[in-house]
Amino acid sequence: MEVLVVYETMFGNTGQIAQAIAAGLAAHAHVTVTDVVDAPAEVPPQTDVLVVGGPTHAFSMSRASTRKDAVERGAADSDLGRGIRDWLEALPQGGHPQSFVGFDTRVDIPFLPGAASRSATRLARRLGFTVTEPESFLVEGYEGPIVVGEVERARAWGERLALELADT
Ligand SMILES: Cc1cc2nc3c(=O)[nH]c(=O)nc-3n(C[C@H](O)[C@H](O)[C@H](O)COP(=O)(O)O)c2cc1C
Repeated sequence: MEVLVVYETMFGNTGQIAQAIAAGLAAHAHVTVTDVVDAPAEVPPQTDVLVVGGPTHAFSMSRASTRKDAVERGAADSDLGRGIRDWLEALPQGGHPQSFVGFDTRVDIPFLPGAASRSATRLARRLGFTVTEPESFLVEGYEGPIVVGEVERARAWGERLALELADT
């Protein structure tokens, strides 16, 4: 099974979670991991599963304006140009035989609505992917750090995902 993991990160937390998910997936699949800034314009045809994750910004996927806010809070400005929303929106409509799995990071505040992965999954469904249940991983504040135990949970989630998707 060929899995492509595409992630967006402003402060590095989602990148770390993406690497942990990829490590879990790699127990049962061949995995390629890429920052969205370097992601290919189309999903490579050999891909069986597309895993896409980013930070939750303003209850959803980031936009240029929220990424600018992140830079004002100290994030690196190299990623201003493109987030997962932009990348997904630029994919062709239809013709996607892959399964799509979304993930995100968001702050550990109970009952705060919205998750980038839910928005990404809705968009992927509209584009014609077969979607599965997304997952959120928690950070302590806008800049992080990742809540203790979440990196391990991400790895385990990735491994379970590979087993489940290999069965379908
Ligand atoms: C402009 C902005 C808006 C945000 N809005 C939300 C939000 O609505 N809900 C939430 O849980 N976290 C929100 N956050 C926190 C981000 O989810 C957090 O910065 C992110 O998970 C860190 O991941 P990264 O290091 O990969 O950028 C926001 C952060 C920024 C910079």
